[in-house]
Amino acid sequence: MSQDRLKIEVAKAALRYVEDGMLLGVGTGSTVNALIDQLASAGIRPEAAVSSSEATTERLKAIGIEVTELNHTGDLELYIDGADEVDAHKRLIKGGGGALTREKIIAAASRKFICIVDESKCRPVLSEFPLPVEVLPMARAYVARQMIKLGGQPELREDFVTDNGNLILDVRNLDLVDPVRVETDINQIPGVVTCGLFARRAADQVLVATESGIETR
Ligand code: 5RP
Repeated sequence: MSQDRLKIEVAKAALRYVEDGMLLGVGTGSTVNALIDQLASAGIRPEAAVSSSEATTERLKAIGIEVTELNHTGDLELYIDGADEVDAHKRLIKGGGGALTREKIIAAASRKFICIVDESKCRPVLSEFPLPVEVLPMARAYVARQMIKLGGQPELREDFVTDNGNLILDVRNLDLVDPVRVETDINQIPGVVTCGLFARRAADQVLVATESGIETR
């Protein structure tokens, strides 16, 4: 099965958690785009959605789902998002699409966070995907030096500005065996908005599309 087909299958599997009239947090990326397409086909109508990016907002509005601000909703019943890498404890690397900060805020403000991925994203330990770190533009070089001190190899994401007007450093080679500690350490560096580790607030449930069907973890 192609990776695109697996994304569609896991998006379909996520539909059973979405109810008409609920307040839904919606992530960013191609797997979430498949979810939005499936919501439209199934005719499921959340009361409103809180979106993690301008791109997702545009897609939600295109299928007629009202997009509202997190400042107006209180906590959300459910957040659904993809990930770039998932470990055995449902901890994630996110931010391949650059929406990590809004994604992390919505995950924190949601009672349940369901992550939807295909099996290529799963590893016993977070290790392969370069860690995205959103930085204020004036702190780019300073934060890059701190990443090198932590043993990482930072690279500025070319021609990319986040929805928040910031930059992304993609950092390879960090030791992520203790992702809670690394998340805490990186997020304390002045100039860092947030890093793409979702370890302190991991997913509550991960739906994984495999060749033999959907696995729930
Ligand atoms: C965006 C993200 C996405 O969830 C992540 O990049 C996965 O995207 P895709 O579903 O396209 O593989 O974190 O910031």
